[in-house]
Amino acid sequence: MKNPLISYNNESIMMFFNYQLYQFCPKSEVSMFFKNLETNRLYLQNISPAHRYFIYVLFTNDDVLRFHYSEDRYTDLNGADVEIAEWNQPEPRNQHNWVLVRKADDIAIGTCGFHNWDRDSAFCEISYDMYPDFWGNGYMTEALQTIILFARDEMKVHCIEAGIDQDNEKSIRLIERLGFVYNKLVIDEKQDKKICHDKIFHLRF
Ligand SMILES: CC(C)(COP(=O)(O)OP(=O)(O)OC[C@H]1O[C@@H](n2cnc3c(N)ncnc32)[C@H](O)[C@@H]1OP(=O)(O)O)[C@@H](O)C(=O)NCCC(=O)NCCS
Repeated sequence: MKNPLISYNNESIMMFFNYQLYQFCPKSEVSMFFKNLETNRLYLQNISPAHRYFIYVLFTNDDVLRFHYSEDRYTDLNGADVEIAEWNQPEPRNQHNWVLVRKADDIAIGTCGFHNWDRDSAFCEISYDMYPDFWGNGYMTEALQTIILFARDEMKVHCIEAGIDQDNEKSIRLIERLGFVYNKLVIDEKQDKKICHDKIFHLRF
């Protein structure tokens, strides 16, 4: 494997974390229902403790967190560990997260997944985040197309919901490109007293 500290100038720390990841991350892991997936350019790996450095770097980046709630920002690696443990609760569970890994160079670039899966109403919510260096290449569109098929065919959901800050234009463009339809605007006060204006979109099968 090439030395990531040499290959990348502006994001050497993140690439070092990725380097650490691939020293220790098993490419295949046992999972009952949720499984590793694949697209043309990406591996979608089930999130695991081996991803802790990448998850930490992702959720301490100002551009990634711009439209997140302040409580989503980690203060240390423990924050990543806690969140990864939540995503990895024993199955059956109502949430799952994948890490997007670029096939070309085995670099982790983002995450995507589902939460609040309600089997009775065949409903779940979608979430996704990508490190800014990788925006603008269609990677997230590609990843979401694949997990949406998984939701439809394996989870048997009839409706996927996306809640997006009304000013998050990239995310709104992404979700509309995938066929989601605007449903309503929700105005909410969060823990930090910030007033959020979230647009709710639905994709129905
Ligand atoms: C939301 C987010 C994932 C969108 O990233 P993105 O790079 O715009 O999404 P994609 O990877 O699907 O790339 C699509 C863009 O790449 C372009 N593109 C370039 N090459 C492409 C290709 N081969 N295939 C498809 N699209 C391509 C598209 O035209 C599109 O650009 P546009 O929106 O300006 O038209 C990203 O902005 C992000 O992580 N933001 C921070 C976290 C966040 O807001 N999460 C969502 C909370 S609701």
